[in-house]
Amino acid sequence: WGRFLQTVGGATLVTVGTLGVLYYYAQQDKTPGEQLPHDPSKKTLVVLGSGWGATSLLKSLDTTDYNVIVISPKNYFLFTPLLPSVAVGTLSPRSILQPTRYVTRHKKRQVSVIEASATEVDPIAKTVKFEDTSEIQGLVSMTTVNYDYLVFAVGAEVQTFNIPGVKEHGCFMKELEDAEHMQRRFLDCLETAAFPGQTPDEVSRLLHMVVVGGGPTGVEVSGELHDFLEQDLHSWYPELANHVRITLVEALPSVLPMFSKQLIEYTESTFKEAKIDILTKTMVKEIKEKSVVLQMPDKSVVDVPCGLVVWAAGNKLRKVTQDLMARFPDAQTNRRGITVDGHLRMAGVPDGSVFAIGDCSATSYAPTAQVASQEGAYLARILTQLAKKDALAARLNALQDAPASEEAKQEVEGLQRQLAKAEKMRPFQYSHQGSLAYIGSDKAIADLPFFNGNLATGGVATYLFWRSAYISTLFSLRNRVLVANDWIKVKLFGRDVSRE
Ligand code: FAD
Ligand code: NAI
Repeated sequence: WGRFLQTVGGATLVTVGTLGVLYYYAQQDKTPGEQLPHDPSKKTLVVLGSGWGATSLLKSLDTTDYNVIVISPKNYFLFTPLLPSVAVGTLSPRSILQPTRYVTRHKKRQVSVIEASATEVDPIAKTVKFEDTSEIQGLVSMTTVNYDYLVFAVGAEVQTFNIPGVKEHGCFMKELEDAEHMQRRFLDCLETAAFPGQTPDEVSRLLHMVVVGGGPTGVEVSGELHDFLEQDLHSWYPELANHVRITLVEALPSVLPMFSKQLIEYTESTFKEAKIDILTKTMVKEIKEKSVVLQMPDKSVVDVPCGLVVWAAGNKLRKVTQDLMARFPDAQTNRRGITVDGHLRMAGVPDGSVFAIGDCSATSYAPTAQVASQEGAYLARILTQLAKKDALAARLNALQDAPASEEAKQEVEGLQRQLAKAEKMRPFQYSHQGSLAYIGSDKAIADLPFFNGNLATGGVATYLFWRSAYISTLFSLRNRVLVANDWIKVKLFGRDVSRE
């Protein structure tokens, strides 16, 4: 009994302690303190976007140095790696969002957050024009702001290659509303298939899900769809579940070209076991209301009936990015995105006042969250250094204008030394932490840099690693708790199949 009571007492103490710590941090997150107001003597830093690059920058930035204005059509950060889990109801949408104000209200100096889309950047006049594109608009819905420094982090949009029917009939997997849309359509296909009197051919069509694009997004969506089918639909739609088919279509010879050969083969064999068909060297030519037109490896064209098409065929630049690049036709010639120098400054901008990070820029790195967030954190350091440099230069100017005393001369020399040091800015260096992808059936794959080599692993242990890596990457304690809670909820009660 003594030992039993000791164990129970210990466990209670640990639980109460953990809850106490959680409560303390949650309260801290929930109750931001007073902030310094904007200071007219400080420079204005405008940040466009609230995604990976911008949020990482805002987290690390010392806002006492600038008057910061964030402009983004979404007033939140979206944790994209878990978006496919929202599409099948494993996670609730709000669990992977973090309102931008939850970050900015904790900064020392006030940061203005404006929910709007930047429509035009004038890098010579140093202005940004922006517009409220939300449903409700006030008397003013379009205006312009001046900046001293601009961080351009607007990401990218879905590439459709102007293929007919993609916009009209395909479901994207880029924004939160895309995942919600896909979930609704998927469940609609099931309910429509369950409608009395449906012919077997129509049931088969409605239950055929086609995912276009064998990059990580398409593979993860296919894996998540499979889990939903295996873990839930067999219980709630027993008469239909066996008729559900998932087909992944990829134009290249293999899926996941960025992963090692071994992991590609592992993914392909896992999909085979999971009865997910992979069609490689197959190109989608058109999406119709009830079918998808495929060009097969032998160049024949077939019309394949299906209920749902998920379009995960890559990204392209936004119009605002293309317009900005067009202002510097000689320096900006890369079609993948904005060319930047080693310090992430946009090439061609005469005074170096525009920085570009993340998917809208073209670097030697892949357009990933990992790259964007490291660029954001790096830029925060650069901006702090720039503020220091600007302050030193201003002080130096003031002293050089004043009558030269011995003391002033010494200070000038000291300032010149400090300025020379502040001007030496280290270029951005990306540190690759590895690539991870969920492939369904409680399995994930990982290509990890390991002891100067690469460790390619796949399986259930990698899946647990994938989960813990993503939960620790989530930007806030609140999101970690919400995501962990959703995972437990689904383990206990399964996914919700109501169609909202
Ligand atoms: P984003 O995060 O897309 O942010 C762009 C921001 O700009 C958004 O807030 C947007 O609202 C805003 N914006 C748009 N237009 C305007 C405008 N006109 N004016 C102002 N603001 C604007 N990468 C990984 O490394 N690992 C993963 O596991 C991974 N999984 C992914 C899963 C999915 C489903 C997807 C779609 C992507 C995934 N990625 C992953 C890629 C990763 O999400 C992107 O590389 C990353 O989001 C790029 O960050 P960013 O800041 O450049 O752009
Ligand atoms: P992607 O560009 O990596 O893949 C798109 C795929 O679609 C390509 O393989 C392309 O060949 C194929 N495709 C294009 N048009 C087609 C057509 N008409 N018919 C058939 N196939 C067609 O895009 P994705 O997967 O959205 O990834 C975008 C970026 O985000 C990448 O840099 C990726 O690394 C990153 N990402 C990383 C993840 C991870 O690390 N787990 C998860 C998701 C995205």
